Amino acid sequence: DKANYRHFMAKEIHEQPEVVGHTLARYVDMATERVSIPVDLPFDFREIKRVSIIACGTANYAGYIGKYWLERLGRLAVEIDIASEFRYREAPLGEGDLAIFISQSGETADTLAALRYAKQHGLHTLSIVNVTTSTIARESETMLQTLAGPEIGVASTKAFTCQLMVLATLAIAAGKMRGELSEEDEARLVHGLIEVPRLMSEALATEPQIDRLAREIAKSRDVLYLGRGTSYPLALEGALKLKEISYIHAEGYAAGELKHGPIALIDENMPVVVIAPYDRVFEKTVSNMQEVAARGGNIILMTDAKGAAEAAVEPLETIIMPDMAATFAALVYAVPVQLLAYHTAVVMGTDVDQPRNLAKSVTVE
Ligand code: F6R
Repeated sequence: DKANYRHFMAKEIHEQPEVVGHTLARYVDMATERVSIPVDLPFDFREIKRVSIIACGTANYAGYIGKYWLERLGRLAVEIDIASEFRYREAPLGEGDLAIFISQSGETADTLAALRYAKQHGLHTLSIVNVTTSTIARESETMLQTLAGPEIGVASTKAFTCQLMVLATLAIAAGKMRGELSEEDEARLVHGLIEVPRLMSEALATEPQIDRLAREIAKSRDVLYLGRGTSYPLALEGALKLKEISYIHAEGYAAGELKHGPIALIDENMPVVVIAPYDRVFEKTVSNMQEVAARGGNIILMTDAKGAAEAAVEPLETIIMPDMAATFAALVYAVPVQLLAYHTAVVMGTDVDQPRNLAKSVTVE
């Protein structure tokens, strides 16, 4: 049931501190601040030459963020692919390499077909799924569960952040096994993850501000989302979330790509949501924001206090996120991104939990 919420989506957004915390507790030892993957992995991360992450939609964007983490923390070569493309590309696959499949339902036809294809080609298969009785869970060699609980709203929210949590712990585990992370690194990173549920609760406090902002966004025909690093896939997710439930056209771009085309779209009618925690690439994002501001674009900036102070532009609105270790910021910044889509859809009066033309589980290819 919806408890006291108007929609399942709202309830599920608000459940995130709790279910992301449950998921974390499954994959780390809270007391020692060590990662502990609760199953024996049938492969050795030191022998993996390449990881392919394969999923659809929101799960694909979780995988895209996971790619950044596995590369940086695990020093692994990672490709991210859309399930419906992976199978037909005839990409060379290395026997004994690893394919990771991400799916809330565990029944998505394209993801399942890609899993079977990977098995035929001798890859190790690991799935990150929410429904443990699902076909993808059963057919993969290793299954890591997200503890999101049942997700009813068609637009994925809590499953996404729980997928991110599993990917974050897996990336730390890989880095540890490959000798890329020391015990101190591990403890520092795990400590950062333990903070996430509390930070998500703080991020939920931006809701009244986002509700007001949604009334402006609802007047727009198009919305652009920009980010760098892990904020780039999160920008893609923000655009997907907005378009699927509010039916407003939205696109996500890597902030640095702006000047290679999409900048032509910018005028005073185009809100530009910039996802920019104060991190290693913040300065670069600032110059992209200046490009937007110089063309009259209305910037909605999601950042922390430090970022707000250094932004060097006058945003239409700044949504201040709590200070945190930048590595895992995507987990927390997902919250305002989801809230913005949700409240915009509510203003538009759409069927938030059951958007038109969409099904919760896509069992056709
Ligand atoms: C978007 C959304 C879809 C799903 C996609 C994959 O909000 O829900 O893009 O993420 O259809 O579904 P699963 O994760 O069940 O494989």
